[in-house]
This record gives sequence, C-alpha cells and structure tokens, in this order.
Amino acid sequence: MKSMPLKDPRSPLAPPRHAVIVSSALTFALAALGVALAALSMLYFGRGGAHPPADMRVGRLPVMGYNTWNAYHCDINETVLLETASLIKSLGLADVGYDYVNVDDCYSEKKRNDNGDIVADPTRFPHGMKWLTDHIHSLGLKAGIYSDAGWFTCALYPGSFQNEERDAKLFREEWGFDLLKYDNCAVPFDEISRENIIGRYVRMSDAIATQAKASGQPPLLLSLCEWGNQQPWLWAKRIGQSWRTTGDIGPNWNSVADIINKNSFISWASDFYGHGDLDMLEVGNGDLTFEEAKAHFTAWAFMKSPLLIGTHLADASTETLSILKNTEIIAINQDPVVGTAITPFRWGAGPQWTSNSTHPAQYWSGESENGTVFMLLNVLDEPADLFFNLTESPWIRSGRQYSVRDLWAHTDNGTAARNISVPAVPAHGVVALLLQDAGDEPEGIEPKCSVLEWCIDKNGTLIR
Ligand code: GAL
Repeated sequence: MKSMPLKDPRSPLAPPRHAVIVSSALTFALAALGVALAALSMLYFGRGGAHPPADMRVGRLPVMGYNTWNAYHCDINETVLLETASLIKSLGLADVGYDYVNVDDCYSEKKRNDNGDIVADPTRFPHGMKWLTDHIHSLGLKAGIYSDAGWFTCALYPGSFQNEERDAKLFREEWGFDLLKYDNCAVPFDEISRENIIGRYVRMSDAIATQAKASGQPPLLLSLCEWGNQQPWLWAKRIGQSWRTTGDIGPNWNSVADIINKNSFISWASDFYGHGDLDMLEVGNGDLTFEEAKAHFTAWAFMKSPLLIGTHLADASTETLSILKNTEIIAINQDPVVGTAITPFRWGAGPQWTSNSTHPAQYWSGESENGTVFMLLNVLDEPADLFFNLTESPWIRSGRQYSVRDLWAHTDNGTAARNISVPAVPAHGVVALLLQDAGDEPEGIEPKCSVLEWCIDKNGTLIR
C-alpha cells in the first residue's frame, strides 16, 4: 500500500484565513469530543469497567481449586484448610490444575474490631490468616476468602458494605488472599443503598481496582455470588471474573439437572475473563451415582464454570478422584485458545425437544483448541440410545469425516461421517467426545445431503 505524504509540499506556509477558522473550529470540536469521551469513560469505569493493564489481569480461565462450603459449611478451621491444601498436592490434584484453596463463610468473629476491621476467629484460626495464606502459597497454591455485598454474610458474619476499601486491603495486603467470593445476603435498606445490584457489586470491584493500583499487586480475583437473581450474565463480566448463575447446589441429581437446564440458556455468556459459575462441585457427595457425578463434572467443565472441589478429600474414593482428575475433560475447561462454552444444539427429551428442570438439553457442542467437543446427556431414568447428525452442530462441516475421541473411555473410536449413535448410555450418564476433521467423507454416501431440507441438485432437482 502506498503511504500518503504527511504534508503537501506545495502548501503555502501560512494557511488561508478560512482554513484557520475551520481548523480552530475543528480543534474546539475535537477538544469537546475528548472531554465527552473522558466523561463517558469515567461513567463507564465508574460502573466497574476498569480493567487493570493486560499483564495484571486475573481470571482469564475458569478458576480451579477447592472451596470449604459444600463439605464443611461453617465447620471450618485452620486444620481443615491445611489438611485440604496438602491433600490437593499429595493426591495429584494440583498437578492437573486445582490451585486455589478457598475459605467460605464463617471464618471471622461476629463483630469488627474497634478499628473497624474484620477479625479472623482466633479459635478457628489461631495463627491468623496471613500465616494460613503463607502456608498455602508455600505449597505453590493460591488462597481465596469470602465476604458479602451487604451488612452481613449469609451466616451473619460481617459483610463488606461501606467497608469495601478497608476489606479489599485487609484481604489482599494484610491477609495475602488472591481471590474474593462476594455473596449477596443481608443487603442494606433501599434508602441507604440507593443502588441496584450492579452498584453494590461495583463498590467492591472499584475497591479492588484501587487497592491493586496503589499497591502494584495483581487485583483480587472477584467471584460474584448473587445466585443468578438479576441476570449477571449480562453485566457481571465488567465487574468480576465469574458470576454464580443459579441458587445453591445440592448433592443430588435433581439439583444438578436443574442447574444444567437453567445454564443451557445462558452458557453463551462465558468467555475468557468472565465465567458463568454453576456453583461448587458435589462430585463425591450425597446421592450422586458415579454416572451422575461424571455428567455433573462434564457439564461444569464444558460450560467453562469454575471447578471448585467440595468434598472431604481425606476420604475421597478412587472413583471420585478419577472424575476430578480426568485431564481430557479438564483440558476443555482450561482451553487456552477457545474461551467460549458449549451450548445445546438440540434441547430436551420432551415433545418438540422441550426441556425442563428434570430433563435438560441432551445434545450439546462447542469449539475447542483441538476440535469440536460434544456432550450427550441421558436425562432419562433408564438407559437410552443417543443419536445425532453431525451437522446439527454448527461447528461441523458437511461432506467431511471426523475422528472421534471418547474423553471418558480415553479411546480413539475411529472416524464418523454424517452421524453418531451411542447405544445404552446409562441413566443420567454422559458421553463426551472430541471430533477432529479427518478429511472428505467417503465417496458414495446416500442421501447426498445430511440435511435434506432444501438440498438441491445444480439442475434444480430437489433431493428428498
Ligand atoms: C450462600 C452461597 C454459598 C455459601 C453460603 C455461605 O449464599 O451461595 O455458596 O457461600 O452462602 O453462607
């Protein structure tokens, strides 16, 4: 491409008068535009749009680690955290990516101290929080803490409303945490808050940005927990790195199926730096069968949810660990190239493929660094044959064949053209496949088109 000369060499040195007027009007207009843009950006950044410089951004991929709530609820202490951290290492969980150890609710005294600071419960955490995070960091892991956008947490310990800057500083600088889960209980009266939920969460994200800027440290990773009440998938990525999409999970299939169903409509919102959080894992807990736990883990991983283990690690079974350590499933969750989640290409088992909380979408696909990923769920209470045409997924090209990798059996299953059928998938079971383009499909496959609707010969003959 030819470059334009910066200045026309034939122009007189002094521009004509009308040009001066035009140019000062232009300068004025540009200055006004600049002021307007600055004001706009202040408005925008004031609503939590401030991102730190690229090399300081946190949470590009979904967080993997451990959270105390599902296994221990309020029954936490220093020993639980230390044991959990060392089990994460010794069980090989850190090696496959679980690197956060997160403290949930109930770690503090019920009242702030005279200076206004939250105080770690001296009985539960006799050595204090800095000692705890130092220990976690010394294992090569990171540490997470919990607070709330209201006056109190859900278990009625101090929340951070009106103390956001003080608490962000305490959590990050004095206690040494890397992540903050931020809950939504005990919110102030309207006349005090005069804000919506976005505004209440922006208060903390601004405090985190201020702390990071002042200290030069990477910011606390902010994990929003307002249970999907006010469509956080529309706004939360401006404020934090993940947002709970749904209410609290329970260790049973009904809860897992309900969460999958709700997320099937909003999983498109996840991408790098902003992840729908389907809640902490129940793998290894309650009534979930092995098949159900595999389906649960696959759905969470492929929808790019944070993967936070929530079971007692000291007595985790081999089956539980084999699920949590399936590196082929984890690789999709932690894909460094493709940040988006899988979505359904066909919904439920009901008439007209409708779905509901007990029968979520069955056929899902998405892009990945290494090919197209499929998740097939048998949402029925008995074994079922699952079948789909490859080109039902938008990520598959017609007229091609694909190599098929089974991400649970860990086997290469040859190539597929046109369709895939999996017989006798167990009740509430899952099939996870990775397909890679393997060239043109074999010659002579009939019919000529996998999708017959409006498929036509060059001479105008419709194929039926
Ligand atoms: C809930 C939250 C749970 C847990 C609990 C602690 O609001 O969804 O994950 O953090 O509070 O009280």
